[in-house]
Amino acid sequence: MPNALVIGNWKMWGSREQAKALVSSVAGLNQSGVEWGVCPPFPYLQIAIDQLGCDRVGAQTVSADQDVPHTGDVSAEMLADLGLRWVIVGHSERRADRCETDDVVRAQVERALSQGLVPIVCVGETLDQRNAGEAEAVVIAQLDAALRGLASNTDLVVAYEPVWAIGTGVVATPEQAQAMHAVVRQRVKDLGLSGDILLLYGGSVKPDNAEGLFALADVDGALVGGASIDAQAFLAIVEAAAAAKAE
Ligand code: 13P
Repeated sequence: MPNALVIGNWKMWGSREQAKALVSSVAGLNQSGVEWGVCPPFPYLQIAIDQLGCDRVGAQTVSADQDVPHTGDVSAEMLADLGLRWVIVGHSERRADRCETDDVVRAQVERALSQGLVPIVCVGETLDQRNAGEAEAVVIAQLDAALRGLASNTDLVVAYEPVWAIGTGVVATPEQAQAMHAVVRQRVKDLGLSGDILLLYGGSVKPDNAEGLFALADVDGALVGGASIDAQAFLAIVEAAAAAKAE
């Protein structure tokens, strides 16, 4: 298992030309101890696969359903057919704007696992929830819904992404990030899963704050949004992970 994992979530960014340019700029990246990959929009998955190989590519979501005629949806079978490695599930943008409830996220986790994909399960509280002192309870409830009852050796990744830090430039402080990651680590163990599951932090990760985050005991990497569509920034974040985890 690598010491660290850095995943770029491109969200709804780019064109074919931009996708090609970005993957070719990061294609040679190789830092010992750090695994990395990208999650482009569906139409650009093949571009990333062609240049990076399947093992460095994931999707941003997956249908919770199987064998139903759902216009616009993409099944876990299709993602596996492409050879993808990861799929992000439970991102707060989809929980909030695409009505992806805990039950939907759970179904997505199961669909992904059934096809040998590694789910990157996103959890995180809103600012109102944090201000109300509910942050830990919200995150624990999301973890319970997504993970309870899974086999102990299930291969998955958890990403803690406080909603108030996503795309805002307001990164969690090291104290906030470490405190919640420790809670997540403990809960994952209490749910009977391996304590070695990689825990990513997401939310305004940039080259200038990455090293401090990666130095934290329970932060094993990052799920990077905006900075992942800037090749130099993404490279710097992966390098920061390598530097921090080598220490
Ligand atoms: P930003 O890095 O742009 O804040 O996005 C984080 C995120 O949502 C990654 O999934």
